[in-house]
Amino acid sequence: MKKDMKKKILTIIGTRPEAIKLAPVVLELKRRQDLFNFPVCVTAQHREMLDQPLALFGIKPDYDLDIMSPGQTLAQVTARAMEGLDNVVSQEKPDVILVQGDTTTAFCGALTAYYHQIKVGHLEAGLRTGNKYAPFPEEINRCMVGRIADLHFAPTETARQALLDEGIANPTIFVTGNTVIDALLWVRERVQAAPPELPKGLFEAIKDQQVILVTGHRRESFGDGFDNICLAIRAIADSFMDVVFVYPVHLNPNVGEPVNRILGGHPRIHLIEPLSYAPFVWLMNHSIIVLTDSGGVQEEAPSLGKPVLVMRETTERPEGITAGNALLVGIQRERIVEGLTQLLRNSDQRAAMAAVNNPYGDGQAAQRIVDILAKVR
Ligand code: UD1
Ligand code: UDP
Repeated sequence: MKKDMKKKILTIIGTRPEAIKLAPVVLELKRRQDLFNFPVCVTAQHREMLDQPLALFGIKPDYDLDIMSPGQTLAQVTARAMEGLDNVVSQEKPDVILVQGDTTTAFCGALTAYYHQIKVGHLEAGLRTGNKYAPFPEEINRCMVGRIADLHFAPTETARQALLDEGIANPTIFVTGNTVIDALLWVRERVQAAPPELPKGLFEAIKDQQVILVTGHRRESFGDGFDNICLAIRAIADSFMDVVFVYPVHLNPNVGEPVNRILGGHPRIHLIEPLSYAPFVWLMNHSIIVLTDSGGVQEEAPSLGKPVLVMRETTERPEGITAGNALLVGIQRERIVEGLTQLLRNSDQRAAMAAVNNPYGDGQAAQRIVDILAKVR
């Protein structure tokens, strides 16, 4: 096929999870470069946390809008992303724009595509809580992208049904699995072949311990919610001498402040910088329980056979809860302490949760998505 006959797919990436979940698709487009041109634009809504997975997967963006500023507001991210993306799309004139998930970058990418009357492919379409403020602002970002998108790549049947319930036409919805499982399996293989480097001293500190891995960053939990989460972690660390927490702290200052104030200096709580994806996967694999509010981590942990306690009042990923991999413990201190205590004391319950198959994908999602893109006219 002649170069100018190739389909041009512009991939837009803003944050860490978008990079991890879009990487398998970009690599698959590259594998089929006889069919596709595949420019990549990062808004860099995240900076360090975005650069980590881009480097791991060997993705060198063609455009870097470099919009991140410390403590940025939602309006600032939106305004900067819209202006930068408008220029990139005017220049590239792609056939399809790919966005992933529910971030402000994903929303701005879809809206920019609409303004230019370009087709939008939405990865991880159809996740809903039905509560417009939880997750905030992700629930509405995702709904708005869904309203604009032409191709809805739903990870599960539940997600497909949510789209159908909103009147999205069935032939435009494709249940592909979640590309996060593609990324996870790719990285797990490498981690098994060669253990990744951990922060200095961490391996020695945790190697003979029962590790609980923690992540948290949701905006709707800022303030009292994060104080409660940290107080619960501290209470468990004080009463279980044979357990250590490892907590790679998200760089959002609204997270770092309560975490360092409440958990800093505790001998069995290791607060570390965000980890690159390979050591993070290694650490997940080394843990006995994962305590998180993260979307991606909720999806990954079951593939590694790790029980998940979800520190949220509601989740747009009910599949793990229904299947039995995950439990929703909310953001009240007592409930988190109760949930963790029960799981730490009951190894049979942990084993039962670990044994459930991951409901989010089989590692072939990117291939399915690119097959569909190849047929788009
Ligand atoms: C964003 C997404 C959220 C996603 C999360 C993944 C929105 C509105 N939020 O939330 O949906 O689940 O990413 O982690 O799209 N920062 C750094 N370096 C980084 C990244 C962040 O210093 O590499 C700090 C900066 O001070 C930045 C702040 O974190 O201003 C917030 O970043 P932002 O992307 O606005 O929100 P997140 O809470 O990261
Ligand atoms: N992750 C990582 N390093 C860390 C914490 C998380 O690489 O220190 C990965 C994790 O495996 C998952 C993704 O980042 O793939 C999740 O990102 P985050 O929790 O920030 O966002 P969400 O998924 O909630 O949108």
